[in-house]
Formats: sequence, structure tokens, C-alpha cells
Amino acid sequence: MFKTRTLVLCLLAVHGVGGEANFNPLQHSGPASPYFDAPSQDGIPTETPPGCRVDQAAYILRHGSRYPEPGSFQGWVNLFNKFQNASYTARGPLAFIPSWVPPVDDLPHEPPFLTSTGAGEAFSLGVDLRKRYGFTKGGTDFTIWSASQQRVLDTGAYFLRGYLSQGSYNSDLSLNRGFTISLPDSVNNTFADSLTPSTSFPLYTSGDRGSAMASQFRATYLPNIARRLNQHFLDGLVLDPVDVGIMQDLCGFSAEINGDTRFCNIFEPSEWLDYEYAHDLNYYYGSGPGNPFSATVGFPWVKAITDIFVAGPGRSPTGASATPPPLMMGFTHDNNLPPIISALGVWNTSKPRGAPIYPLSPTTPNPERMFRSSFLVAFRGYVALERLACDNTGPAQEVKHVAGTAASDKGNKPSHFVRIRVDNAPVPIPGCTDGPGATCSLSAFVKHVNTQGRVAGDFVDRCGLSGVPGATSRLQFLTNQPMPASVIPLPS
Ligand SMILES: *[C@@H]1O[C@H](CO)[C@@H](O)[C@H](O)[C@H]1NC(C)=O
Ligand SMILES: *[C@@H]1O[C@H](CO)[C@@H](O)[C@H](O)[C@H]1NC(C)=O
Ligand SMILES: *[C@@H]1O[C@H](CO)[C@@H](O)[C@H](O)[C@H]1NC(C)=O
Repeated sequence: MFKTRTLVLCLLAVHGVGGEANFNPLQHSGPASPYFDAPSQDGIPTETPPGCRVDQAAYILRHGSRYPEPGSFQGWVNLFNKFQNASYTARGPLAFIPSWVPPVDDLPHEPPFLTSTGAGEAFSLGVDLRKRYGFTKGGTDFTIWSASQQRVLDTGAYFLRGYLSQGSYNSDLSLNRGFTISLPDSVNNTFADSLTPSTSFPLYTSGDRGSAMASQFRATYLPNIARRLNQHFLDGLVLDPVDVGIMQDLCGFSAEINGDTRFCNIFEPSEWLDYEYAHDLNYYYGSGPGNPFSATVGFPWVKAITDIFVAGPGRSPTGASATPPPLMMGFTHDNNLPPIISALGVWNTSKPRGAPIYPLSPTTPNPERMFRSSFLVAFRGYVALERLACDNTGPAQEVKHVAGTAASDKGNKPSHFVRIRVDNAPVPIPGCTDGPGATCSLSAFVKHVNTQGRVAGDFVDRCGLSGVPGATSRLQFLTNQPMPASVIPLPS
């Protein structure tokens, strides 16, 4: 986080992107954005409200910044070959093109693994959450859950390093305190009991109009950008729309891989907003609220956490065999976050007056939309639920201490509330903002989740999996004993 901010400041100070003060392309690059805190919504402060403390929290997050997927990397190489094989003169902001090389220098070990920026993002989240919640005392062990692709496991491992700081003993693994329960990644036989549930859902991809809508929208602006940029090349090199799309991807990726922001500086703010919106359409209609099966895929996680919040810290929900830790961390991939948004029923409500915001228009971005890929699926982006215990009397102004007695709550029973955070920004639940800091009381949240469950429907039924052996609609891995999965100690 710190690194990203430094980078951003330099970028603005030195280049004054597009002439618009404060416009930062790295915060409009959708899934290629390195992590940043999403801006506050409805002016809700990000702090835990005074008089409240979080007593349980659950996070589901995308892995940290990474190298490109091999397929995207091939696109970079093709672009590089095109730049190299032609004879031309590049001018002004594009003068760097003849000497540009793709930012991957160790092919066998880079795509599609975590970058140093990704490791730093994961580590700093560990530090932040340890300090924010204060859940893990002294020598307590801490367990996380992770889908099993290497970049996801690595994100979890760096998170644990930051969270625990000490407690990794290469000379004696039995002294390790951080554990990862590794869950199968993107297989079709784990159903709802998974951090990658959509891959057990054959109908889910058929509901996916996202990539087609993104492509249609890109066709409306990429040719114009190509025309504008081509004025900077004299004879011999002509960019096409595909090249321009790759060059926009290279802003976020180069910035996080090696700090190179030259591609960030050649596009105008309006061109970044179009680029971002194409990603928004992809996620909204692909894995988010515009996919009719999205809420079904996200609901099992929401339901499992709600049951755990109802049981409260240190207890297991009805029918569970194990008590989850107060902080439940699930590490996964970008496409598993929008279904959680759908299942929670947020970021999909238009204002009673004014132009409708949802469903997102295929042609016309509404700047009032909160569903923005950059605010959700940036690298290491997350959705979190927090259970808050709030003192009914508000923070004390005056506290009397009697010698030799410990402070106590004097039977003042706290009230419980639930807060959603997406990339750190508290997100209000439509119709349920009665608590401190626009939180939702636990009992009203339970009602809201039950209503959402009716919208989502049953996972097995809606996926057409009735009768399939092992098919389940419940996410139970958080409250089972460590199971089919392997438990991995911190890496040496
Ligand atoms: C450009 O040159 C590279 C390296 O010589 C070659 O592999 C590639 O096929 C060429 N690409 C094009 C588009 O001509
Ligand atoms: C999982 O995928 C395999 C291989 O494509 C297929 O044969 C099987 O029917 C699928 N199972 C389910 C439950 O969808
Ligand atoms: C999101 O809103 C659109 C438009 O009102 C609606 O069609 C869709 O079902 C909603 N999605 C969810 C998950 O509620």
C-alpha cells in the first residue's frame, strides 16, 4: 500500500497525468490496478465507529499483484515484435516505444506468479489486520484458507508473515504458528464448499455476457485512441485497437512489476474511464449482479459467515464440528468477489430519482455507479464482513477507577451490528443503515441475508446438480476440522 501511494505521488507530481489534477490511472485500471483503498462511499468514515469494537471478521480476497497470465504475456511479446520489426520515428510521449521491452525477465519463474508488489500487498494486509483487530494474542496459532493456485497460496503465506511477524521456524517446523488450509482450486467437484464455487456450476458461464459486452464497448473507443496515438508515429508503424488495449493493460502491470509508468502517461483521463468501464461491464455481466446465477454462487459464503456471526466469537454455529477463528481469511481469485457483492445485495440499486444506474448500460457509463471493477477486483481486492459489538451508552466521557478493581462493562450488554467493507471502504446495505457508522444491526442483517437467500436460490437446484454425488449447497470448510486439504506451514 505504501509503495503504491509513493508511486502515485511521483506520477502526479512529475507528469501531471492528462492535465486533470488528482486523476490517477492506477485507480481506474480495473483488475490491473495494484491495491489501493477504495474511496469512502456516502461519506462513511472508514474507522470502526466510537464505542464499538469488531469481535469477528471474515475476508474473501483476490491474490496480490502478479505477472501476466501466459496468454496476456504473448500479447505483450507480439506488441514488442511489432515495435521492433518496423522502421519508424516515434515522437513526443511515444518516444520511448522503440526502446521499450516487456517487463518480464525470467520467463520460467514469472508468469503467472505473484510479484514483489503482490507480496508487499499481502504482507501489509497482515500487518494492518493484526493491528486493527487485535485478535491474535501472544503465541496463538493462526489458520487461513486458500484456493490452491500458487499465487493465491503465496498471497496467504505473505499475509501470515505480516500478521504473525515471528513464528516461522525453518529449523523446527513444529514451532510454526501460521497455517494454510489449501482448498482445491477451480475444480468442479467441490460445489458450494469452496473458495472457487462457480467452476462447479455449468450454467454459470452460459449466463456470462460480460466479455461480449466489454468487447462491444471497447470497439466504441479503441479506434479513436489508436488514431490519436498514431499521429505520434512517422511512417512505418500503425497501432490498431488490439495494440491500444494491450498498452492500457501495461500501465497497471508495468507499474506494479517494476515501477515503469510510461504507458500510464500516454492516455487521457477520459480514455482511462472508458478502459475502466469495459472492465466494469465484464465483471458486472460476467460474474457480478448482471449474471442471473451470480448471487447463487456467492450466497454460500455469505450464509456461512452470517451463521458464524449469529453464534458469536468462540462458539460454533449449529451443526458445525469446529469453532472458526475470530478472523476468517479466504484467499482466491478476482471472479469470486463479484458473486459476493450480488449475494449481499449491494451496488445494484438505482436511486429513486435520476437516471437508472443498474443494470449497467452497455453504451453509457453512469459516473454515479458504485459497482466499479477498480474498487473491487484490484489486485488483493477484498470483500469483508465485520461483526461489531457496540456499547449502548456510547463512548464514556468520564471514567472513575476504584483502587484494586478491574474495569468491567458492569452488565452493559453490547448490541451487535454488521458492516461490509470492500477494499476498505464501508459499503452501506440498502435499507439497513440504522447502526453506528451506517452499519446494520445483526438481527436485521440476518433478515436481509434470508431475503437474499430467496433471490439467490439453492446452489444445487439452480446449478442443475440434483442427484450428483457429493453436491452440496453449503460452505462448511470454515467449521469442519481441517479436512481433505493439506495444511501447509509457512514457506522457508
Ligand atoms: C518479428 O521479429 C521476431 C523476431 O525476429 C519474429 O519472431 C516475429 O515473427 C516477427 N513478427 C512479425 C509480426 O513480423
Ligand atoms: C466435471 O467435469 C468432468 C470433466 O469435464 C465431467 O465429466 C463431469 O461430469 C463434471 N462433473 C460435474 C458435477 O459437473
Ligand atoms: C441487479 O439489478 C438488475 C436490474 O434491476 C436486476 O435485473 C438483477 O437481477 C439484480 N441482480 C441481483 C443479484 O440482484
